[in-house]
Amino acid sequence: MTLRPELDFWHPVLTSEELGDTPEKVRLLGTEVSVFRTAKKPLRGGGTVGAVLDRCPHRGASLSKGHVREGCVVCPYHGWSWAPDGTGKSPGNPDGRFRTQAFDALESDGAIWIKRAGTAVPFPRFDVAGFLEIARFRRRVNAPLEVVLDNFIEVEHTGNVHYVLGYDTHRLDEVICKVETTPETVRVYNQGPQKPMPWALRKLFRYPPNAHFVDDWTTRFAPVSSVYDQYWIDRLTGERGGDFLRNAVFFTPVEDDVTDLFVFVFAEATAWVASASTACCSSR
Ligand code: FES
Repeated sequence: MTLRPELDFWHPVLTSEELGDTPEKVRLLGTEVSVFRTAKKPLRGGGTVGAVLDRCPHRGASLSKGHVREGCVVCPYHGWSWAPDGTGKSPGNPDGRFRTQAFDALESDGAIWIKRAGTAVPFPRFDVAGFLEIARFRRRVNAPLEVVLDNFIEVEHTGNVHYVLGYDTHRLDEVICKVETTPETVRVYNQGPQKPMPWALRKLFRYPPNAHFVDDWTTRFAPVSSVYDQYWIDRLTGERGGDFLRNAVFFTPVEDDVTDLFVFVFAEATAWVASASTACCSSR
């Protein structure tokens, strides 16, 4: 089977919570893959996972409707079992040698990631030393990856569409935009008047009056992902104030016109603790 070149790179396909002890079917650029845990998930950290083509090579049954036994996914139709390296066993023909398409798979950062087996590409680490994870989720968007990415890289919509983080619609012409490119990345720095925010959230974020909101992001393309640094500065002194958020967003191409967003949200540990205690004290 011919796999598309985008599958050479690591893509998140499920959050860790979405993969239990039974196999799950995922799609990556139209290829259906059965993802499964080869051992029970540990209480902390990542477990071991496997991924093979969802279609059983014997008679085409969906392996994700089967179960896991001894680290292999077992087909629900005739009981052939498939190991994470793609080797198969038939109960009726124990000496037979069988193979299916396997994928490299791992669990990291609270997600399940897969790629074409054997490609030598680095895992897409994002630097969150000194940050606390405050949210992680997957959202499906019925639009091509290019369209979804285009939405993320322009700021004009934030005034109307975003509830909290974004720019004042009536002052969009004050937003500064600087762009730097390298062969592998695009970095964009946006700074402008923060849109009006509800009082309680302003307390939580310790958002200063007349502050400018900064959205400083870098996008990479293998796989397509962006890391957003978001914070506020005093527009007169240029000093930072309030929280500092770092969001990593991975754009997983499910089909040509369907994209999954994997969003990992972090807050700078010291600022988050300070703002949480401020919110706590001011509510008494
Ligand atoms: S179809 Fe899977 S074992 Fe027969």
